[in-house]
Amino acid sequence: MASERRAFDSEEHKVPPYALPDMLITSDGNPADTADVWRQERRPEILDLFRREVYGHPPPSNASVGQEVLAEEEALGGKAVRRQIRITMTVGERSSAMDCLLHVPAAANTRGYPLFLGLNFCGNHTVSSEPGIPVTTQWVRNMPDLGIADHKAREENRGAMAKRWPLQRIIEAGYAVATIYCGDLAPDDPEHWRTGAWQLFYGLDEERAPEQCGTIAVWAWGLSRAMDVLETDPAIDRKRVIVIGHSRLGKTALWAGAQDERFAMVVSNNSGCGGAAISRRRIGETVEQINQRFPHWFCLNFRKYNGREDALPLDQHMLLGLAAPRPLYVASAEEDIWADPRGEFLSLKGAGPVYELLGRPGLQAEDVPPLEQPLLDAATGYHVRRGRHGITEYDWNQYIAFADRHLP
Ligand code: GCU
Repeated sequence: MASERRAFDSEEHKVPPYALPDMLITSDGNPADTADVWRQERRPEILDLFRREVYGHPPPSNASVGQEVLAEEEALGGKAVRRQIRITMTVGERSSAMDCLLHVPAAANTRGYPLFLGLNFCGNHTVSSEPGIPVTTQWVRNMPDLGIADHKAREENRGAMAKRWPLQRIIEAGYAVATIYCGDLAPDDPEHWRTGAWQLFYGLDEERAPEQCGTIAVWAWGLSRAMDVLETDPAIDRKRVIVIGHSRLGKTALWAGAQDERFAMVVSNNSGCGGAAISRRRIGETVEQINQRFPHWFCLNFRKYNGREDALPLDQHMLLGLAAPRPLYVASAEEDIWADPRGEFLSLKGAGPVYELLGRPGLQAEDVPPLEQPLLDAATGYHVRRGRHGITEYDWNQYIAFADRHLP
């Protein structure tokens, strides 16, 4: 909109010229111009590229998954039933557990409720201010705003992230919502991340091979293990499970949704570099910066592209294309230059041809829409909200409206 000079527009002159790899040409140079060639050939090829070059191969799938309901009680003033489920993954003698905090609307529903499933940053007790959700005893990131300085979560942090998880609103809209502390799967730290699910498969001090998983892959794998359990739950409609995440956990939601097609819809909130944003734009966070600051998130191969984005055999629009033809929502925030809002939009637009090929038109808009005017009609939804990096009730309202429309 000409009248509104948006924060991210002022950076645009820094974007170098670039050409995106064509998602619909196979590695042999043949067109992937039918749904069959896409599904049989090109889609697996792209998945493999992301596994080898970006996130690493997922852990093997031979873990057995068990569950134990730790607590089931009324929550949110009787509007919801809250269940806490310990999900245990076991391989031989080794096991690793994650605690899933599930809220389901209290009213009976024979079909089961659609579900939003996503990881959280600091522990399940930070998501709701209600008592009864144990403070995590796992390693947590230091967060000065929350008074966490020694990697230990505390009672005082209860509900600290509640604004990111408007449970009441989600429940009232007729959705169930489940979350798991990402640190149950892999603490978000270069020194400690291997102490979680990694140990099921690999040695604690084992050096990573270039294509071996980092935390994003472990977190995404954990979301699929949670799905193993939740899809058997009669309170949940397993055909309408939405995987969602903010920022690093938005990168994770995209990767989980790409690999596991049981997720019926995918939501990326401000996921930026290594998530929805085009890497070749090199604006905001770059591949080199993310690999240096977060050496544990991606596979080691991804470092080959530090400062060499044009050498990547893929770009992030291809990750978004892996969600097709399922509904996919990407959201940006105006002042979140670090995550490159326009790069997120262009990436979603770049996924359009796959959606078209599979019979679902992609985004019609040519440019980033005006602030807070969400695009909800196509199977790929998008908005840019006013303000900074974060996930707000405004964002959730759009995800709910989009899901109402595309997952009826
Ligand atoms: C950092 C990081 C981003 C990430 C964000 C977050 O800003 O550079 O890549 O998305 O943290 O997870 O909040």
